[in-house]
Amino acid sequence: MHILALETSCDETGIAILKALPKKYQLLVNLLASQAKIHKAFGGVVPEVAARKQMEYITPLLISALKKSKLAWSQIDIIAVTVGPGLIPSLIVGVETARTLSYVLKKPLIAVNHLEAHIYANWLTSSNIKFPLMALIASGGHTELILMKDHGKYKKIGQTLDDAAGEAFDKAGRLLGLDYPAGPIIAKLAKKGNPSFFYFPRPLIDSDDFNFSFSGFKTAFLYYLKSKSEKFIDENKENLCASVQQAIVEVLVEKTIKAARKYKVKNILASGGVAANYFLRNLLKKKSPFPVFIPPVKFCTDNAAMVAQAAYFKAQQRKFINWTKLKADPDLVLGE
Ligand code: KG4
Ligand code: ZN
Repeated sequence: MHILALETSCDETGIAILKALPKKYQLLVNLLASQAKIHKAFGGVVPEVAARKQMEYITPLLISALKKSKLAWSQIDIIAVTVGPGLIPSLIVGVETARTLSYVLKKPLIAVNHLEAHIYANWLTSSNIKFPLMALIASGGHTELILMKDHGKYKKIGQTLDDAAGEAFDKAGRLLGLDYPAGPIIAKLAKKGNPSFFYFPRPLIDSDDFNFSFSGFKTAFLYYLKSKSEKFIDENKENLCASVQQAIVEVLVEKTIKAARKYKVKNILASGGVAANYFLRNLLKKKSPFPVFIPPVKFCTDNAAMVAQAAYFKAQQRKFINWTKLKADPDLVLGE
């Protein structure tokens, strides 16, 4: 069985093909057309621009993926696509392409939630993950803690009340004059800085619930920078990046472990663009009393391989949808 997966929820166009056998799977192709350079000029993703580029990239990328896999269209058995959450103009490109493919090829469709795809990125490289588990999803648009008792069983136990963790990195970076997305740049600069240089607030770190809040952090950082000279900021860029990273990551790690303890899980999973952060990866593994799984960096940020992987488990539960019913949903939630 071959699963063809499409990811177009934001500014990356992803196509992947996963070969699925009854008890194993193999990623045959994983292509990505990134728009990062285009959106850098705007300091963030412009939905209209993102969608136009998705339109431009998707068909050539599909053709390349098929060529690379050496498969014929008739050998594709399932079409999987991200239906939300995300930017509606971008989502529509993947969803309409998937609907057309399903109709023309007469193959079943699987609708994948972008957040579950981020979680399932973990199965691309690990097959020994045990339930129940606590999954931290930290990306540019989401910061959520999801309790999973089994495949496809999600319970949201916490989320950000305002900005996402990736957004906190990006906004802090913007205040420092760094390019978008600033997360990876801050991570790089932080390597040469002192994380104890300044103690920025750790919002909600000790609260009784499992929610996050990062907008206050951004404001605190803004006022801190306003109180300093340009020369000081410039000379201490690496120290500031290290201190910012320390504050954001500490909150994510503390709350994830606290949630894992409360729900007595067997494993912790982290995913989403922010899970590409080396400091988060190390700190979570160091502090957690439970085995921690984090996908390789290339599967943390948006990609279609994770969509194919989520679809692999959905196919086993026969969660198919007719093309006439498939719809993009920008506000789709995971686990209520
Ligand atoms: O999952 P993703 O690719 O897209 C969304 O679904 O949002 O996440 C993108 C986010 C951006 O905010 C980016 O700054 C952040 O992930 N990010 C990082 C790192 N790499 C990407 N944040 C911190 N450290 C990194 N190494
Ligand atoms: Zn994402």
